[in-house]
Amino acid sequence: MSILIRGGTVLSASGAHAADVLTSGERIAGIAAPDAGLTEDWTRRADTVIDATGKYLLPGGIDVHTHMEMPFGGTHSVDTFETGTRAAVWGGTTTIIDFAVQQKGQSLLSTLDRWHQKADGNCAIDYGFHMIIADVNDSTLKEMDACVAAGVNSFKMFMAYPGVFYATDGEILLAMQRAAENGSLIMMHAENGIAIDQLVAQALAKGQTDPVHHGLTRPAELEGEATHRAAVLAKVTRAPLYIVHLSSEPALAAVRDARDTGQNVFAETCPQYLYLSIEDMAKPDFEGSKYVCSPPVRSREHQDTLWRGLRTNDLSVVSTDHCPFCFNEQKELGRGDFSKIPNGFPGVEHRMDLLHQGVVAGELSLARWVEVASTTPARMFGLYPRKGVIAAGSDADIVVYDPAATQTLSAATHHMNVDYSAYEGMDITGKVDTVLSRSRVVVAGGEYHGSAGHGRFLNRELSQYLL
Ligand code: URP
Ligand code: ZN
Ligand code: ZN
Repeated sequence: MSILIRGGTVLSASGAHAADVLTSGERIAGIAAPDAGLTEDWTRRADTVIDATGKYLLPGGIDVHTHMEMPFGGTHSVDTFETGTRAAVWGGTTTIIDFAVQQKGQSLLSTLDRWHQKADGNCAIDYGFHMIIADVNDSTLKEMDACVAAGVNSFKMFMAYPGVFYATDGEILLAMQRAAENGSLIMMHAENGIAIDQLVAQALAKGQTDPVHHGLTRPAELEGEATHRAAVLAKVTRAPLYIVHLSSEPALAAVRDARDTGQNVFAETCPQYLYLSIEDMAKPDFEGSKYVCSPPVRSREHQDTLWRGLRTNDLSVVSTDHCPFCFNEQKELGRGDFSKIPNGFPGVEHRMDLLHQGVVAGELSLARWVEVASTTPARMFGLYPRKGVIAAGSDADIVVYDPAATQTLSAATHHMNVDYSAYEGMDITGKVDTVLSRSRVVVAGGEYHGSAGHGRFLNRELSQYLL
């Protein structure tokens, strides 16, 4: 099977140029300038021709931070691998990296097996795994090497959530030493959970139970402190570090300082921190619970700082931290006690559009849009050049994007398996037109043509930023 996409503008992390793209089998076979004389021959050879006049062709989005079917907060995130990957591809994301979650007392490899069972045969798009380490002990540390050999070479640890996922500084140090030896990447949820838990207890004792207090008890300074501490531990152990879901100015300052002294410290942010604020968490009638995630959405001035961080590359990646819980029955677990609201946020479907909105608003260039949403995620997590670029030999994961189309985000029209939209009513310029996953047309003409089981597990190489 061969597909020709003609008449479009191909985007990459280095710019934009008019070009036709031919696929063959599951890969990209060639890219030619429209006046190179190849298009007529390619048109005859192709089984399908897609007209992309006036549209962008970009490498499929890569969302490196999702939580499908995650057990958390006494419940499960509601998107399965099937519904979550389907929603992702509707929004132009063709690869996800999800988190396998070790529970205390369980081994990393049995955890990985369980996550393979959940995902295998159910994904609409290709997927990889990171591993969450919740129980640091000798055998966990040894098993990190086995995970690396199995293509899972990034490990998330938590400085937050004491009693659940929390790791002490000593445990983090041990895991970082192992990562420094085996070439893997430690990903850090950087919030000072010990101090936060005291603030939470004090707020509840004062009767401050509404969702907004989730945000008020997790001050940005405690994210900044934890980020700095993680960077110091990484320096001492000579381990690379990737800060997940960075939300605030103090945390960005800690990343910038570490990078300026030559450390391999990287960070991602998420659309919710670029667009939403603590004002959303203060909405009445428990509506604020829809925006409860950790770190929390901040006051508005942090948003400008984060956009700037994306431009200066102190923030390298935008992921979603997609971890959806329904308003009814799940977020409601925390009525009367904000600390019981399941932490997490739906977003896997809208990342590409929300970042394109940043292009429209002049916050990002087209090239930077592609870089933070696809190319850098691929390089950071060992998938490049198979993913993250439109180039001969790469997987034909291609999004045909209409920059002039308009849409309004809403729970009534989204495809995520969750009963609300955090962006309800938001008008967006730009929309996915057609999506190819390994040359298969998965979305076209406003219809879904994919299937569960098309997506394959990606055995990832080590981060290509560390070689
Ligand atoms: O609130 C969040 N972020 N939920 C998902 C789990 C995590 O910490 O990433
Ligand atoms: Zn986290
Ligand atoms: Zn997360």
